[in-house]
Formats: sequence, structure tokens, C-alpha cells
Amino acid sequence: MKYEPKTVILKDGSAALFRAPVPEDAAAFLDFFNAVRSETDYLLSGPQDPMPTMEEERAWIENSLNSPDQMMIVCEIDGQIAGNCQIAFRPQAKTRHRASLAIALRQKYWSRGIGAAMFRELIAAARQRGVTQLELDYIEGNDRGRALYEKMGFRPWGELPNGVRQSDGTMRRLVYMVLPLD
Ligand SMILES: CC(C)(COP(=O)(O)OP(=O)(O)OC[C@H]1O[C@@H](n2cnc3c(N)ncnc32)[C@H](O)[C@@H]1OP(=O)(O)O)[C@@H](O)C(=O)NCCC(=O)NCCS
Repeated sequence: MKYEPKTVILKDGSAALFRAPVPEDAAAFLDFFNAVRSETDYLLSGPQDPMPTMEEERAWIENSLNSPDQMMIVCEIDGQIAGNCQIAFRPQAKTRHRASLAIALRQKYWSRGIGAAMFRELIAAARQRGVTQLELDYIEGNDRGRALYEKMGFRPWGELPNGVRQSDGTMRRLVYMVLPLD
């Protein structure tokens, strides 16, 4: 699914371009992914994991654009990829009312309201499709993520003990959240 581009004014008055990815973003996406997973320990992929190849990255973007059940939004600032987010819709009849969200931003762009603005776009896309329940999970300790999700109305419904072994060896819970949509 392709997101229609939009310019968004952030908390500090600066502008960000929200747009669909294009296959030509593959190299920039690899740089972004390599950087972002070193800047936070709250993604499931870390610097110790293998990086996708350029072909895999391009295929991942093309798959997202061509799939009716996924939508990705890139946040571009001054020509750089500042972040991306995704919604994954469930295609089967019994779970078609549900969708999952994911987001990651480069550290220098945190706390400028990009996360909230991207979530508003994903929530609007979910409503348009008739989805009535949004879901996500985060690694225990990700207080910035939790604050964003609570601000958007998500509430925790459960936890997976020992869901993640962090890079320092400590075990963390995975916290599951849900947002009912009217
Ligand atoms: C989590 C993430 C997406 C949040 O995006 P963001 O653009 O920084 O979020 P926003 O600026 O819209 O909102 C963050 C809120 O958290 C608050 N916050 C910041 N640091 C915080 C902290 N340590 N504890 C509690 N709240 C915090 C901010 O004040 C802000 O709330 P406000 O708008 O009411 O002031 C972003 O920081 C990120 O990509 N982090 C690394 C990757 C990651 O964790 N992805 C999510 C995996 S589940």
C-alpha cells in the first residue's frame, strides 16, 4: 500500500516530509537501519545481527509497496531518512479487524513530535480500512516509547517474561499494548 506524501510541521516549527518509500531508498535505508540499531537497545535487531543485503532491502521496500496489507511511511528531513514506521494489516477474515504498528527514528530526531505525528497517520489509515484494534509491543525500559504509546491511547494488556536478552545480557519483558478504535 502506498502512502500519499504530506509535509508535517513538528513541535519546534521545522518541517518533515512523510512519504512512501521507493526502491531507490534501499542504500539510504541500509545506512539508516545500521545507525538506528546502534543508537538504541530497544529494537529487536541489534548491531550483532547480520545486515540485510542491498537486494534484500530493495525487495523489502517493493514488498511493502506492493502488498495490500502493509503500509510504510518514511520521515525525511533535509533529504535524510530520519525515521520510518509501518502498519501491518491482517488479511484473514477472523483477524481482519486487527493491525500492528512499528516505528524507529534516528536519535537526533527524538522528542520532536515525529513519533506522535507518524502514529496519527497510521491510526488514520487503520480507521479508513475499518480496523477496530491496533496492537504493538515494546521492550521493558523503553520509557520514551511507552510515553508515546500511552499518549496515543494505547494501554498494556500483558507481558512476556524474558522476551528479550539485551546486549548487556539482562533479560527484559516484552510489554504488549492495545488501542481500541471506535
Ligand atoms: C520511541 C520513539 C519512536 C518515540 O518517538 P519521538 O518522536 O521521540 O516521540 P514524541 O516526541 O512524539 O513523543 C515522545 C514523548 O515521550 C516523552 N519522553 C521522552 N523521554 C521520555 C522518558 N525518558 N520517559 C518518559 N517520557 C519520555 C516526551 O516528552 C514526549 O511526550 P510529550 O510530547 O508529551 O512531551 C523514538 O524515540 C525512537 O525511535 N526510539 C528508538 C527506537 C524505538 O524505541 N522504537 C520503538 C520500539 S517499540
